[in-house]
Amino acid sequence: MNSVKNLNIDKLGFIDLDVDPSLDLVAEIQRMRKEKNAVILAHFYQEGEIQDIADYVGDSLGLSQQAAATNAEIILFAGVHFMAETAKILAPDKKVLIPDLQAGCSLADSCPPEEFAAFKKKYPGHTVISYVNTTAEIKAMTDIICTSTNALQIVQSLPEEEKIIFAPDRNLGNYIQSVTGRKMVIWDGACHVHEEFSLERILELKKDNPDAQIIAHPECEKPILIVADHIGSTTSLLNYSIKNPGMKFIVATESGILHQMRKESPHKTFIPAPPKDSTCACNDCRYMKLISLKKIYNTLKYELPEITLEQKLMDRARGSIVRMLEISESLRL
Ligand code: 13P
Ligand code: SF4
Repeated sequence: MNSVKNLNIDKLGFIDLDVDPSLDLVAEIQRMRKEKNAVILAHFYQEGEIQDIADYVGDSLGLSQQAAATNAEIILFAGVHFMAETAKILAPDKKVLIPDLQAGCSLADSCPPEEFAAFKKKYPGHTVISYVNTTAEIKAMTDIICTSTNALQIVQSLPEEEKIIFAPDRNLGNYIQSVTGRKMVIWDGACHVHEEFSLERILELKKDNPDAQIIAHPECEKPILIVADHIGSTTSLLNYSIKNPGMKFIVATESGILHQMRKESPHKTFIPAPPKDSTCACNDCRYMKLISLKKIYNTLKYELPEITLEQKLMDRARGSIVRMLEISESLRL
């Protein structure tokens, strides 16, 4: 393995070394991946060129399932920190790399462990269901993890009388509550990307494109979900856009998913839903977009930055994720 001298990864979050501009980064990444028996897992919100070099591209559930099942020695996670952390918890003997340690998540940040522990104490006897977009500390305080693909089924798998705390996304929690009719105690967290969509501008777009369907991720605010023709996880939105005979879609989730939608249905039109602030591209996740091909190259080369977690914390957090995987498997999700 190459060594990196005099480099403070903790401060930078990534390997800040220049790469020879004549290098074919894609070819080099492929070569090192084979040499090192590494697998590259990428979320749908990554840049298109990163999705195209990944061994697997998917949503949070699919990525966890892949991490739990891989035979590779190294997992390189092209995604955000909580995803790589989940992979490490599920595959503690593997080396899990993330190209930028600062690729966090505003939703995970909206649920600090100490505050959540105090919140949990206020509701004894409740089963805690937490979205996968949380830190390992929150997962350790959780009974069952869920993703947007299986949240509905996981809540429905519990007996009617079971009291539930749902954390940390208030929009997903309220959506699940409205579909299931179950009353849950919901943590007041949210994602900066999904709360930035403008209902007014989406409706203007719809007026100009009356044949377009609005498809939205359940992390969006209620007014957006009310006008949506379809609500679902990134995989669900992608599948809907493939199977539905409609030719035009206004897509209310992070813009990275449009890459797969256009690849799958090149004859259809996909319009990213606009954010409230017309001067910024807030429907890009600033954390997801910290990952680049150059950082992936350096990360594979130097095998840094690596996700490290205390064994005890991993052991406390694993049960809630495994329970999600077991329920998902029994439901064939
Ligand atoms: P899914 O891809 O599981 O729908 O999650 C979206 C998300 O917010 C990931 O950060
Ligand atoms: Fe977190 Fe939102 Fe980015 Fe997903 S899109 S990683 S929930 S900040």
